[in-house]
Amino acid sequence: MKRTILVIGAKGMLGRDLTTILHADLPKDEIVGWDIEEIDIRKEEETVTKIEKLRPDIVVHLAAYTDVDGCELDEGSAFAVNAEGAKHVALAVSRCRAKMVYLSTDYVFDGNKREPYLESDSPHPLNVYGRSKLQGEEYVQAWAKEALVIRTQWLYGRYGKNFVDSILRQAREKKVLSIVNDQIGSPTYTLDLSKAISVLIQFNARGIFHVANSDPCTWYSFGQTILKLSGMDEVKVIPISSKELGRPAVRPSYSVFNCQKLKRETGLTLRPWSEALKDYLQIGQEN
Ligand SMILES: NC(=O)c1ccc[n+]([C@@H]2O[C@H](COP(=O)([O-])OP(=O)(O)OC[C@H]3O[C@@H](n4cnc5c(N)ncnc54)[C@H](OP(=O)(O)O)[C@@H]3O)[C@@H](O)[C@H]2O)c1
Repeated sequence: MKRTILVIGAKGMLGRDLTTILHADLPKDEIVGWDIEEIDIRKEEETVTKIEKLRPDIVVHLAAYTDVDGCELDEGSAFAVNAEGAKHVALAVSRCRAKMVYLSTDYVFDGNKREPYLESDSPHPLNVYGRSKLQGEEYVQAWAKEALVIRTQWLYGRYGKNFVDSILRQAREKKVLSIVNDQIGSPTYTLDLSKAISVLIQFNARGIFHVANSDPCTWYSFGQTILKLSGMDEVKVIPISSKELGRPAVRPSYSVFNCQKLKRETGLTLRPWSEALKDYLQIGQEN
């Protein structure tokens, strides 16, 4: 039977890759992509009415206020989109008896654990973005029956502002770059994540899953690898602390995921981030 899968946040960095992958993986289903022009999730009535009218079978909710420092400076907007917005979508999902997939973040953790985070570990966000996304998770789990919550991290992809492009841009302008060396995580390619989301949907997975490319690193070593693979290693990179960078939002110093649950339930392990990065840089050069 043909299903309708609605992707909210379809024009974002992840949304664009995900809709392409879903079209390819699920050709019998109808994939509908909405973004802020079609639906403003801050508005409860509009959100519920529009989704109810479409009657989707699955709603993949990616739309979010993703500027982590912006969230810190504008808590009201962060909660309006990331928490209340997710609640409005979940409410509509429950009315349609659809299945909900919600994208969340490693920033729900404080980074004090020094071994990879399990889905069952207690969240304790350090910043407004993390708190608003965690509240979104809680609303989704309360309202949408058997929801799938996918936590991911350090995304980069072809369709959005991201660390890889920012390092390459800076390297063209400066001879010396300063990059933080006291945060550990796993850079994750949106195409690899999209494939994993598609697989989790096909397995009808429910509950929380941690999904990231494998192998942890710091932003500093990620930056060095980007430059090396791009043939720009003449640019000098200086390791600095998060304190020296002085961003408004505090980030966890350690947010490595244990992704064994994904492997156990679907057989899937995402490749090391350095391999994914090579693909990304090659794609970038072809266009
Ligand atoms: N990027 C990361 O490193 C990262 C890490 C962990 C988790 N995640 C999660 O993964 C998901 C996708 O992230 P992403 O990087 O692809 O985000 P993104 O590029 O910022 O895309 C989010 C999309 O949501 C839209 N949006 C914002 N406010 C909205 C509203 N009120 N109603 C409807 N749409 C709205 C945005 O439109 P505008 O662009 O016009 O605002 C944008 O098209 C998010 O849920 C995010 O929290 C991301």
